[in-house]
Amino acid sequence: MKLAIDQQKLVSEIETLATFSDAQAPAVTRVVFTETERKARDWVKDRCEDAGLVIWDDAIGNTFARWVGSDPHAPAVGTGSHIDAIPNAGKYDGVVGVLGGLEAIRALQRSGFHPKHSIELLIFTSEEPTRFGIGCLGSRLLSGTLSAEAARKLTDNDGVSVEDVRRKAGLAGELEKVKLHPGAYKAFVELHIEQGPILEREGKPLGVVERIAAPASLRITVEGSGGHAGGVLMPDRHDALCAAAELILALEHAARSTGAIDTVATVGICDVFPGAVNSIPAKVRLSVDVRDTSLQRRGEVLRALDEACRATSEDREVAIQTEVLNADAPAECGPPVIAALSAACEKHGFSFLPMTSRAYHDSLFMSRIAPAAMLFIPCRNGYSHRPDEYASPEDISRGALVLAEALAMLAE
Ligand code: GLV
Ligand code: MN
Ligand code: MN
Repeated sequence: MKLAIDQQKLVSEIETLATFSDAQAPAVTRVVFTETERKARDWVKDRCEDAGLVIWDDAIGNTFARWVGSDPHAPAVGTGSHIDAIPNAGKYDGVVGVLGGLEAIRALQRSGFHPKHSIELLIFTSEEPTRFGIGCLGSRLLSGTLSAEAARKLTDNDGVSVEDVRRKAGLAGELEKVKLHPGAYKAFVELHIEQGPILEREGKPLGVVERIAAPASLRITVEGSGGHAGGVLMPDRHDALCAAAELILALEHAARSTGAIDTVATVGICDVFPGAVNSIPAKVRLSVDVRDTSLQRRGEVLRALDEACRATSEDREVAIQTEVLNADAPAECGPPVIAALSAACEKHGFSFLPMTSRAYHDSLFMSRIAPAAMLFIPCRNGYSHRPDEYASPEDISRGALVLAEALAMLAE
């Protein structure tokens, strides 16, 4: 089997997909179920069709593109990632796993390889939490981590429900049918940019992910009292934004205090109401994202935040409400998939680093129903979720080559 990646084609497809964007280049914004995201998905599906894959969507819009194996009833080997992008993102997050996965399949086809197990490319719905506040919507439903009933209740910032949005996008069928039976996949493997600086710093071309950190997301609402920025005297104020500021700093302090590099905490959204220069903030909504490889440490940070909410509410006489959107367990990657990725690296003479993913991925949820692991490639300066995210053509095609080799080993 002579495997060769068509680097030029793969890179030009990544460039083309980046033109499906609601932001000015080089930034990419592609939020789930927008017209732009739908068109981008159709464009990728056309590329899958060109490769002779059998394509279908489930009721939440996860796309499956299957290269049918010689034993069509044997569990498939899955690969893939997502094409939705957060506001003001780059070109590579998720996309490398989707288009790199497709090119890996095409490379295997060109080599004359015939899989026994079907090889299936998955394009998951809403890996990013931008629209519905919760990440990995598609893979959570596939793995049964999120129930159809809970998914139906999710709404976006305009109050529009998942159910309405997906129906409007032409997705029929019941959400209950999205969940896959255990055993549907023999293995799942996701190619992704690292989104951190470690591979670059260590001078390693590839990372084999052995565990994925546990993410938790919360929404905090602080209600104080508003009023005139000139008229209300300082001792009489219950400023919701000042209270929120205390919570943000308390969270940062708690995450720094664990002393572990795997503990990270972020407040990425702060909505201030009414949002006028001469009006005291009456209400603030914060989004909180806390992650760790250790559930115990993550628990300590969340407890410190809880305590800060209690103390701030009392000191400042404001009401604070906390809603936990998700608090997921970490994942240990599947030994057979780690072994296949390691063997594929070795076969091609590439050194690699065993690593932990502190970002979450659809693999976190696929690992609940199948042995799953990930292959990381470096990205410049570790930048991701920003327009200057960059992975070199050589690194991308090296990742696709190793992915192809690992898929062949798993699908034989
Ligand atoms: C996924 O994009 C994450 O936030 O880790
Ligand atoms: Mn992302
Ligand atoms: Mn991603």
